[in-house]
Amino acid sequence: MRVPKIGASHQLAPLLLGMVKTILAAQVDYSQYVNPFMGSEGPFPGQGYGGGDIFVGGARPFGVAKVGIDTTAANWSTAVLNGGWTPDGNVTAVSMMHESGTGGAPKYGLIPQMPLTSVDSPVNLLDNLTYSQPRVGNDSASVGYFKTLLQNGIQIELSATRHAGIIQYSFPDGEKHVLVDLSHYLPGSPGDANGQFYVGGEIQIEDSGKAYTGYGTYVGGWNNGAPFTVYFYGEFSTAPGTARTFTGTNTDPMPRYQTLANGGIVQPTYGNVSDKATSGPMNDRIGALFSWDSESTSQISSRVGISLISTEKARSYVESEISSWKLNDTVQSAVEEWNQGVFSKTRVPLNSTANMTNVRLLYSSLYFIHLMPSDRTGENPLWQSDEPFWDDFYTLWDIFRCTVSFYHIYQPTYYESMIRGLIDIWKHQGFLPDGRSGNWNGLVQGGSNADNMLADAYVKGLRGAINWTEGYAAMRTDAEVIPYNTYDPTDLSASTKEGRGALGDWLELGYVSQDRNTRCISRTVEYSLNDFALSQVANGEKPSDQEKYLNRSAGWQRIWNPDVQSLNFTGFLAPKFSNGTFNNTGYDPRYCYDCEWLAYTYEGVPWEYSFVIPHDMETLIDFMGGADTFDSRLDLMFEPDMSVQNLGSNGAGITTIINIGNEPDFATPYLYNYINKQAKSVQRSRGLGYQYFKDEAYGVPGNSDAGAMNSWLLWQMLGIYPVVTQPVYLLVSPWFPDLNMTIGNNQTLRITANGLDEGYYVQSVKINGQAWTKNWFEHEDVMTQGGTIEFELGPEAKAWDTGSVPPSPGHRTV
Ligand SMILES: *[C@@H]1O[C@H](CO)[C@@H](O)[C@H](O)[C@H]1NC(C)=O
Ligand SMILES: *[C@@H]1O[C@H](CO)[C@@H](O)[C@H](O)[C@H]1NC(C)=O
Ligand SMILES: *[C@@H]1O[C@H](CO)[C@@H](O)[C@H](O)[C@H]1NC(C)=O
Ligand SMILES: *[C@@H]1O[C@H](CO)[C@@H](O)[C@H](O)[C@H]1NC(C)=O
Ligand SMILES: *[C@@H]1O[C@H](CO)[C@@H](O)[C@H](O)[C@H]1NC(C)=O
Ligand SMILES: *[C@@H]1O[C@H](CO)[C@@H](O)[C@H](O)[C@H]1NC(C)=O
Ligand SMILES: *[C@@H]1O[C@H](CO)[C@@H](O)[C@H](O)[C@H]1NC(C)=O
Ligand SMILES: *[C@@H]1O[C@H](CO)[C@@H](O)[C@H](O)[C@H]1NC(C)=O
Ligand SMILES: *[C@@H]1O[C@H](CO)[C@@H](O)[C@H](O)[C@H]1NC(C)=O
Ligand SMILES: *[C@@H]1O[C@H](CO)[C@@H](O)[C@H](O)[C@H]1NC(C)=O
Ligand SMILES: *[C@@H]1O[C@H](CO)[C@@H](O)[C@H](O)[C@H]1NC(C)=O
Ligand SMILES: *[C@@H]1O[C@H](CO)[C@@H](O)[C@H](O)[C@H]1NC(C)=O
Repeated sequence: MRVPKIGASHQLAPLLLGMVKTILAAQVDYSQYVNPFMGSEGPFPGQGYGGGDIFVGGARPFGVAKVGIDTTAANWSTAVLNGGWTPDGNVTAVSMMHESGTGGAPKYGLIPQMPLTSVDSPVNLLDNLTYSQPRVGNDSASVGYFKTLLQNGIQIELSATRHAGIIQYSFPDGEKHVLVDLSHYLPGSPGDANGQFYVGGEIQIEDSGKAYTGYGTYVGGWNNGAPFTVYFYGEFSTAPGTARTFTGTNTDPMPRYQTLANGGIVQPTYGNVSDKATSGPMNDRIGALFSWDSESTSQISSRVGISLISTEKARSYVESEISSWKLNDTVQSAVEEWNQGVFSKTRVPLNSTANMTNVRLLYSSLYFIHLMPSDRTGENPLWQSDEPFWDDFYTLWDIFRCTVSFYHIYQPTYYESMIRGLIDIWKHQGFLPDGRSGNWNGLVQGGSNADNMLADAYVKGLRGAINWTEGYAAMRTDAEVIPYNTYDPTDLSASTKEGRGALGDWLELGYVSQDRNTRCISRTVEYSLNDFALSQVANGEKPSDQEKYLNRSAGWQRIWNPDVQSLNFTGFLAPKFSNGTFNNTGYDPRYCYDCEWLAYTYEGVPWEYSFVIPHDMETLIDFMGGADTFDSRLDLMFEPDMSVQNLGSNGAGITTIINIGNEPDFATPYLYNYINKQAKSVQRSRGLGYQYFKDEAYGVPGNSDAGAMNSWLLWQMLGIYPVVTQPVYLLVSPWFPDLNMTIGNNQTLRITANGLDEGYYVQSVKINGQAWTKNWFEHEDVMTQGGTIEFELGPEAKAWDTGSVPPSPGHRTV
């Protein structure tokens, strides 16, 4: 019998053909469609400012280690070092921990190595500017792999596992050194109160310099985190000729402690190979220098493991996760993990008719939503627990709107684990986080948005091993307990760490007042949805609470001022004093008066926040004057040159009031569904998708925010949009002719778009084969057992949505 070759499929029996297809399907290398630089630049080519602030380097889905280069700031007023990698900075190190997509002062950039060709003067190992290196040519990166070439001729290649990294240096002829400066971290701009700092540590050389262990402790960063400690174990493929530890006085300008004015950066004092260097009582800077003879091999590799628990665990990760010294073995296993655990769950046509730009947007977006949060299960140094442990919710304010709903269907196992981890944080530390990083809650930008995440999971039926009695109790803490004031210089008025800082007003007045609190409008809006979230979970867990929280969820109506006029529209959210009167003096809802912590609204103007009431669109439309006015008011959001508020890097290049580069507006383009004008939702949202999301370095409109931006695009490409805290999805219009997605417990969601090449307006929809006239559906329709959504598309807008409008389950009148 002839063995048929794959490809000669006409010779295969149908059963065998099926098997071959299955094998082939499993073998598609989807990782090739990921552009790891999507979001790496902003509107000014070659600069990170206004861009995605993404991490570029080696990582696993939700992994602890994110291995990549750290760089200097070309200009502090436009610097964004948050992901470590920047297009224009000079390389200061390869380090093991990073965030992706965050704004504000950087966090992490920890446990470094820096390869050097000389350590002679003027190089000072305690002064990165004396040895940092420009790069030559373009960096290259693919899933699980990164490569750069330094000006001094050293090539760096790297990859990562979940808790470790492998770095391969190719040195030019001559001296070869690797510096480990434990006091290295990604700095904030000078004077930034939220910058992070090195606190101390220890480094011990082992095995005649072939290995080293120790720990470093760091404090601060955007979330004002307490000190936390990272343990490490590093080893080299080739024993160095010499290895020395060093120490030096810490002159980093940590507020109130050190200052450079005391005489500048000192020179290191060397120890020797048997040394253990410790930071001691004055938190000295410490590190080690490993040097190889000029004759030694040009290729030197290093494997480094990290742990939040111990050096032993850090060492065990290297042993269990990177058994080979071949870089490509780790790259290969990273690619397999991403393909298997992430990319292969979404299948679209990849044949000659496929729009490969869209295919790359799809798989790149899937990549970027899986970099954070970090699954630190087994890595909890704070308390004993059998529950999973997660960090780097950075932040829920960004990802509650549609990222977590994606995890719900796409990564149910991870998602259940995340929620258990969140509840365990509440159980042992008192509050659910809104942001969390470095084992520390903070900051809270608006409401307590873990409430929304938990409610979203709850109403969609996620149970598993989640203890919902405790889940609901955690949410009740947010709703009932005023968090103690952390006196954060960013906003001294109330806690920025956790909970609802303005809860006192909320409980007493039913809204957040302008005279007693900051961010009065945006916090009222967010607390309203938070309490709706409580009512949703109370419905199952404590029915006697449900009515109370539903009533509280209408709090936004108390700050709706029907007399405020702007751009010919009447009725807006407005600042209100605690005595119950509105402040009408000079209020203009097109402005937020700097849009930060002390403003009326956070990162968005009241015009935008006045649309963000997903639980009671019915009342909102009524307040705005009915469907027609609502329609034209929404239209105005999309008019160019209407924005007057300068949003800085949060609004780069955007002149409409709607700013899809910032999360509060994520649902706004879809709101036409609530007046049965679905065609306009399609037109508006698709317009934003095409205009602002590109398979390019400037590929997302502003910070990717831990993948929040990418998740918005993912839903847009699927042609559906989730209404957070409700088991409801709005129907839009898909970007692919055919898409199969493995969801839930190995179910299949299939979304087809017949006629897509003619146009993207919906002509008709069938769900599970049934004609559909509503422009929305419920979770159980296709998301629990799988199902099909068949779109018939065409070039003409059509009023096909004649069924009932999407629900307003929080409908209330105050
Ligand atoms: C990078 O280093 C080069 C050469 O030392 C220097 O001219 C340049 O200003 C540095 N750039 C940054 C962003 O630090
Ligand atoms: C740094 O950037 C700011 C803001 O764009 C600009 O005004 C300033 O001139 C830049 N400084 C340097 C030294 O290029
Ligand atoms: C590098 O040196 C500069 C100047 O001393 C300092 O501001 C920065 O924190 C150092 N570290 C890094 C990683 O850039
Ligand atoms: C490792 O993989 C990369 C990309 O897959 C390839 O370019 C390179 O040649 C490989 N290197 C070795 C040593 O196999
Ligand atoms: C989706 O699944 C269906 C049913 O198994 C199959 O016929 C179709 O080819 C698949 N489409 C894609 C793009 O994988
Ligand atoms: C490519 O895939 C699409 C969608 O599955 C299908 O309709 C089309 O016939 C395929 N084209 C080719 C050339 O195979
Ligand atoms: C692919 O889709 C993009 C939108 O993402 C569109 O701009 C482009 O024209 C399409 N390309 C082709 C060849 O149709
Ligand atoms: C859930 O948590 C509550 C409160 O801590 C506890 O009494 C209960 O036994 C837990 N339920 C389960 C199934 O573990
Ligand atoms: C408001 O209405 C006036 C009078 O009809 C008109 O001149 C003006 O252009 C309108 N403004 C906007 C923003 O539409
Ligand atoms: C309410 O408080 C504001 C600000 O303190 C004050 O200007 C206003 O007169 C007060 N109104 C009433 C009715 O007390
Ligand atoms: C009322 O609002 C205006 C404009 O926003 C502001 O300048 C003023 O301080 C506010 N009045 C009070 C009493 O807070
Ligand atoms: C998922 O289902 C497919 C067929 O529907 C089956 O081939 C595959 O083994 C299942 N995978 C798991 C992990 O259960």
